[in-house]
Amino acid sequence: MEAAPAILPLANRHIALGVTGSISCYKAADIASKLRQAGATVEVVMTPAATRFIAPLTFQSLTSRPVVVDMFAADEAEAHVEVARRADAFVIAPATANCLANLAHGQAPDMVTLTALATRAPILVAPAMDNQMWDHPATQENVVTLRNRGVEFVGPAEGRLASGRVGLGRLAEPSAVVGALRMLLGQRTGDLAGRHVVVSAGGTQEPLDPVRFVGNRSTGKMGFAIAEAARDRGAFVTLVTGPVALETPYGIHRVDVATVAEMLTALEQATADSDAIIMSAAPADYRPANPSEHKMKKGAEDGLSVDLVRNPDIIATLPGGGVRVGFAAETRNLEEYARAKIPAKRLDFIVANDVSAAGSGFGADTNQVTIYHRDGSHETFPLMTKYAVAMAILDRVKARL
Ligand code: PMT
Repeated sequence: MEAAPAILPLANRHIALGVTGSISCYKAADIASKLRQAGATVEVVMTPAATRFIAPLTFQSLTSRPVVVDMFAADEAEAHVEVARRADAFVIAPATANCLANLAHGQAPDMVTLTALATRAPILVAPAMDNQMWDHPATQENVVTLRNRGVEFVGPAEGRLASGRVGLGRLAEPSAVVGALRMLLGQRTGDLAGRHVVVSAGGTQEPLDPVRFVGNRSTGKMGFAIAEAARDRGAFVTLVTGPVALETPYGIHRVDVATVAEMLTALEQATADSDAIIMSAAPADYRPANPSEHKMKKGAEDGLSVDLVRNPDIIATLPGGGVRVGFAAETRNLEEYARAKIPAKRLDFIVANDVSAAGSGFGADTNQVTIYHRDGSHETFPLMTKYAVAMAILDRVKARL
């Protein structure tokens, strides 16, 4: 099946990116690129100092838009304020100690600080400087002033600095800067702002012995996409996940578990005050009855039998959690099996995927789903990115809140 057009998290967003003079300016190019890939229109403003580290042409090429450095030489008559007016958000990355001082005191000697003064859009600052400059009381006071004024910060991160020292002062990673921006925009304008959404992801691992387990093919991609989409719409997200190889998306509260028993305990706690629980994890239905305390050794026998016992059904056990969404992973009789799970697990709706279909289910970046509702109606979707599936699920959660 052909995939539907992708839904991009920053589509129709106009983002101004301010770049000030730091050795970490090279990472700002990656930030500009990631913003574009996320669908944003990006306009870059730079300080003269930043141009000594990286050429405006780099940003011009990445964003397909002119870069403004000199407020007097700009093409647009009122460029110094027009960039600020157009922006849905202003990201300053990297922001030097000097930049923070100017921002805190309302000074505007360059295009970056001037844009900050002229915009009414939310401002996200990603500081980068030597740790001694970051720790200095003057910088810390400026940070407090800016925070009190509603400016958001991402980083700085701890690690090796240009001086060779190790400490707090590194520019946050580009993925964190973009994640923080998506979270900020969600919290200010998203339709799930103020809500608590709980998502489960990944498969569980039920031990046979200390080195082996019974597991399944879930990679966590579906659940992580739902968690990111809910964050992008402003929700506070708790993500309870089995062992997966995915990085925690920025701003998401992640709880790692291994077994169904652990997932149940974590979800009982997380859903105590949640507005929705979206159960996209693949918990094991059975676990080995008597896991061995030590590594099992090969015997002379040709075969090995393992007794399995039923695990609790997590979503059926959870008393509430708000809007209750389940998944059905099937390889046949999708509709019949999915519909049967709605009353059995007390779901508002279930997202059914044929995990044997190409591009769907385990490990894929896309999924083709049908949503069956409690009232008997259903909606079939084309093959979509897992992020787009997540958005469709959240639209239906939102409608039931
Ligand atoms: O992680 P990916 O690689 O991206 O793959 C995504 C996925 C295929 C895992 C996902 O799209 C999916 O279908 N998740 C549900 C997997 C599953 O366990 O399906 P099920 O039909 O066996 O279970 C039905 C529902 O009951 C599910 O919501 C499941 O989370 C829940 N369940 C199952 C067993 C159990 N012991 N407790 C549960 O709560």
